[in-house]
Amino acid sequence: MPRGRRRPPGLEKEGGTEGGSGAVLSSSFLLTRQRVCPPSCHGGLGTEVCSGSVLASYLRDKDNARQEYTKLVSSLISAESAGRKKDTSPGESGHGGYETLIVTTDNNITKIMFNRPEKKNAINHKMYREIINALQEAAKDDSTIAVFTGNGDYYTSGNDLNNFSNVQPSEMKKMAKDAAELLKEFVGSFIDFPKPLIAVVNGPAVGISVTLLGLFDVVYASDRATFHTPFSQLGQSPEGCSSYLFPKIMGSAKANEILLFNKKLTASEACALGLVNEVFPDSTFQKEVWARLKAYASLPKNSLAVSKQLLRNIEKEKLHAVNSQECEVLTERWLSDECLNALVTFFQRKSKL
Ligand code: COA
Repeated sequence: MPRGRRRPPGLEKEGGTEGGSGAVLSSSFLLTRQRVCPPSCHGGLGTEVCSGSVLASYLRDKDNARQEYTKLVSSLISAESAGRKKDTSPGESGHGGYETLIVTTDNNITKIMFNRPEKKNAINHKMYREIINALQEAAKDDSTIAVFTGNGDYYTSGNDLNNFSNVQPSEMKKMAKDAAELLKEFVGSFIDFPKPLIAVVNGPAVGISVTLLGLFDVVYASDRATFHTPFSQLGQSPEGCSSYLFPKIMGSAKANEILLFNKKLTASEACALGLVNEVFPDSTFQKEVWARLKAYASLPKNSLAVSKQLLRNIEKEKLHAVNSQECEVLTERWLSDECLNALVTFFQRKSKL
């Protein structure tokens, strides 16, 4: 049941080292449970098991140094660009107070842009919370439609794998429970969003950014975009209501390949399966899509909102039930050895690059 007509297939960018998916909880939390050396430890033996949480502190120190560096660079950039607004055009009004997003309203469109391009727009806990807030704001503002897109070359690389780097073993159960609650609220805010919601997928999308697409009303993609949900690679399980919506959108056979066996889709494949409405050549993507969205946003606002709600209300209860169940399963997954081992593997591979 394709959502729309198909454009010619385009370039397919390989995703590189994607280690897996799953939302909110990340690989780092396992570092306090299963202790593995960084390559430099124990004379370079690498995988030898440490008596302390060496990998955790190794990654933490490295991360702190990087954060300091990133802060320094960011402050230099903002000093340099003071007086000019990055990524906002003259007609746009910016919504302040966001660190991980750029939120603007222009031409009756509220644009919510993932804005951690140096991390491929990975979604950390701050971004999960800011997205919930941005959706609440957009639900109430004067805009007719809301649009998600990514800053830089990625749409988003999904859950930030460093989200749980400081979790102690004794806190793991609580952490998994809290993460599941945050995920449930996050997905719930997409289910309940009252206006038309559109995804402008400017580049590769991984994990939860893909599973959520079933909850969008329209999805447009650049031919650079890819769609990848490597859950079983990380010992995890699907979220974002994809366990229900993907089989419905594309049929269970295709959904199984994607959600069980990590099959990565090109934009044209995602379009053929109905996950994407239309694919555009990257060179004209922004121009064509935003012109179209501007026309959509000039339609009568209340008519669009009540129509969207009519369509959504038929399934709303079911979607909330699916969301709860997916989060419950993920809470168990995040505490499983399968998940912990898969995440250790990802970090070992990453640290050796
Ligand atoms: N979580 C945390 N950090 C991430 C990230 C993620 N999901 N995706 C990218 N990053 C970070 C990288 O660690 C790197 O950080 P560094 O510069 O401090 O080393 C930076 O973003 C750039 O990514 P890099 O891996 O160098 O770019 P790449 O083009 O070689 O590969 C990806 C990009 C997305 C394929 C690769 O980063 C990856 O596999 N990420 C994990 C994706 C994933 O499994 N997501 C689902 C999690 S549930």
